[in-house]
Amino acid sequence: MRPRRRRGQPDATPGLRGDLGDRAELGIRGDRDGDLAGLGETGDLRDPGSVPTIEVTGLTRSFLTGGTQVDALVDVDLRVDRGEFVAVMGSSGSGKSTLMNILGCLDTPTAGRYVLDGTDVATLRGAAQARVRNRTIGFVFQSFNLVPRTSAVTNVELPLMYAGVPRRQRRRLALEALAMVGLSDRADHTPTQLSGGQQQRVAVARAVVSEPALLLADEPTGNLDSRSTHDVLRVLAELHDEGRTVVVITHEHDVAGWAGRTVVMHDGRVVSDEAQVPRRPAAWEPVDPATAAPRRRLVAPAAGEPDARVPHEAPGTVGIGPGGPP
Ligand SMILES: Nc1ncnc2c1ncn2[C@@H]1O[C@H](COP(=O)(O)OP(=O)(O)OP(=O)(O)O)[C@@H](O)[C@H]1O
Ligand SMILES: [Mg+2]
Repeated sequence: MRPRRRRGQPDATPGLRGDLGDRAELGIRGDRDGDLAGLGETGDLRDPGSVPTIEVTGLTRSFLTGGTQVDALVDVDLRVDRGEFVAVMGSSGSGKSTLMNILGCLDTPTAGRYVLDGTDVATLRGAAQARVRNRTIGFVFQSFNLVPRTSAVTNVELPLMYAGVPRRQRRRLALEALAMVGLSDRADHTPTQLSGGQQQRVAVARAVVSEPALLLADEPTGNLDSRSTHDVLRVLAELHDEGRTVVVITHEHDVAGWAGRTVVMHDGRVVSDEAQVPRRPAAWEPVDPATAAPRRRLVAPAAGEPDARVPHEAPGTVGIGPGGPP
């Protein structure tokens, strides 16, 4: 069984949730231990008592195209608590991406209220909207959206670059994120040198490298075969297990089954919203041994045990030369 960190246990892991030092200094969203304190240890990280990550009320989005009005979202209410893993389903054109774009602060609603992690963002525009987006949200798209001819590790560094993180720290954090998705040994590969599933895992690493409060994925497995789908879902599920809030749009019931709740949309409205027992494979075996090991460990190794975590700026670490990354 994968070791789980228990409440109160210090995080010695150089992982995404650790390293408060770097992130706090740099103004990046910090370690969420404080947020998670007081939650159960049973794996149910949902915490209805705290500020919800997402709270939308009366959300409406209409488009006027060529004199025709399309009501893509109609009076949507949705609350997602911190630590939930929610799947959004619905037929094509039902408004899923429109909702996701608003939740991700890529678009603003025609009417309604959106409070993101305690901040009212429905009316934000321009730079203020971008700031909230960069600090609070990680995106994963169906088409990966990696920068071509650019290494995996540099792709993952991008959000940190925008946040003004110094080069060496940026590289270290990006390598940790790649280790977490099982791609330490692909850090120097460009997107065309990676499989679809690997590209999407790089995209997931990029989405979470700056510790966003919310991970949004719009059909993240839509372009993947079943094996890569499993790889990506496993990473998303692990991120959720660590306490992140994850919202995934999907057309596939198997994918939605990994979540703890499914919201179904139809004609711009939420028509069903039900909690479920997640259906995940009993054994979480790495399906790609060539790239899955070493995976990031959630706890530090015991005394005398070799440390399989990603090397930190060790001589010969992929991509770190004397001059550092670009
Ligand atoms: N920018 C836009 N301008 C005009 N109409 C739009 C725009 N974006 C979305 N729509 C319309 O809003 C409705 C909802 O679209 P949306 O992309 O949210 O659907 P979806 O549920 O994501 O569908 P799919 O499963 O095919 O991705 C559709 O009728 C679409 O044509
Ligand atoms: Mg869509």
